[in-house]
Amino acid sequence: MVDILIKSGRVVTLDRGVQYGDMLDLGIRDRCDIAIKDGLILEVKQNIEEDSKQVIDAEGHIVLPGFIDAHTHALFGGNRLDEFEMKLNGMSYKDIMNKGGGILNTVESTRALSDEEMDEILEGNLDKMSDTGTTTVEVKSGYGLNFETEISMLKAMDRFSSTRIDLVPTYMGAHEFPKELSRDEYIDEITGKHLPEVARLSLAEFCDVFCEEDVYNEKEARRILMKAKELNMGLKVHADELAMSGGASLAGELGATSAEHLIYPSEEGLKAMKQTGVVAVLLPSTSLILSQDKAPIEEFRKSGIPMALGSDFNPGSSPVSSMFLIIGLACYHYGMTVEEAIVGATVNAAHAINRSKEIGSIERGKQADILVLDYKDVREIPYWLGSNSVRITIKSGRICFERKGN
Ligand code: NIG
Ligand code: FE
Repeated sequence: MVDILIKSGRVVTLDRGVQYGDMLDLGIRDRCDIAIKDGLILEVKQNIEEDSKQVIDAEGHIVLPGFIDAHTHALFGGNRLDEFEMKLNGMSYKDIMNKGGGILNTVESTRALSDEEMDEILEGNLDKMSDTGTTTVEVKSGYGLNFETEISMLKAMDRFSSTRIDLVPTYMGAHEFPKELSRDEYIDEITGKHLPEVARLSLAEFCDVFCEEDVYNEKEARRILMKAKELNMGLKVHADELAMSGGASLAGELGATSAEHLIYPSEEGLKAMKQTGVVAVLLPSTSLILSQDKAPIEEFRKSGIPMALGSDFNPGSSPVSSMFLIIGLACYHYGMTVEEAIVGATVNAAHAINRSKEIGSIERGKQADILVLDYKDVREIPYWLGSNSVRITIKSGRICFERKGN
């Protein structure tokens, strides 16, 4: 007796592992069944003849792994509606940043939050993501820029528990420089106080740094990331987003799990990433919203670097929580293929957060995080830009969302 049997779906298995290059394969199987037991996928094949407590008829429906959002800043106080209007009136992200707006604006409102408010905000934001099919999300700290609030943010993530969505925490104290300390003082604080405490309490799996000429230069970023590595944390780099700043090379050199944004990676940076198996996490909504250039997709294809996707959900550069929209923008805006976009939001995203053994594909033994969509053809996922077509979400082998009616 199994717990759930999904019958006759068009199953997008993504069972070929991490994928890169220009010939991707979604591993689609038609009229395929999936048996689920004890939170895991027990079998994926045609005509499974097992008794089941629950049966889902998925005939005429795309069935695919739950979306994995590999890059967000989903815990923050307030909003940036005023800056949104400034941008509409022609100011750039950098102009706003130089005027003390941007990240520092959100730092102020995040520092003012109580623990209870943090819990509420995080839950609200992650519920929204789960509504649009995200079953695992990476969340970065980085709106505290001091010991107290950075640790409070990570503790809120640690308290977060949901039957709908899993959270992977990243420490990102090096998201900006706080007003009250010099650059060196703050970096000393990060390496001498923040990171040791984060490691001692096991509050984050990864450490990320905004490596950019005007923010943390390559040397400063290296110092922070080396310390995190010494403490056995995984590494991520906000790399080459605003200009070619050495972030991709640094990610490659240090063997980071991922480099993210990557609008202007250098040739050497791409080589270094390939050499140590760094995943590129691309954020198409951010470039669109900031009117930036696009990430060089063809270069990633040629270099054989796996591409993953993230929403970059944050109040400034990407107030976007839906992976349907991200997959659509990956195609319409970045020119990725349908296969690349879907791989990017599932199996490659699992690699970008070091979860490839557990999630990202529909295969025997993996966690049963599965979506049944109201689409027949995978191309519809990006085509109907931003539309939420989730009919059923299964998280860890339990139905956690079901849309009734047609
Ligand atoms: O990923 N690039 C740096 N950090 C964020 C922006 C966060 C913000 O503007 O609040 C990003 O786009
Ligand atoms: Fe980001």
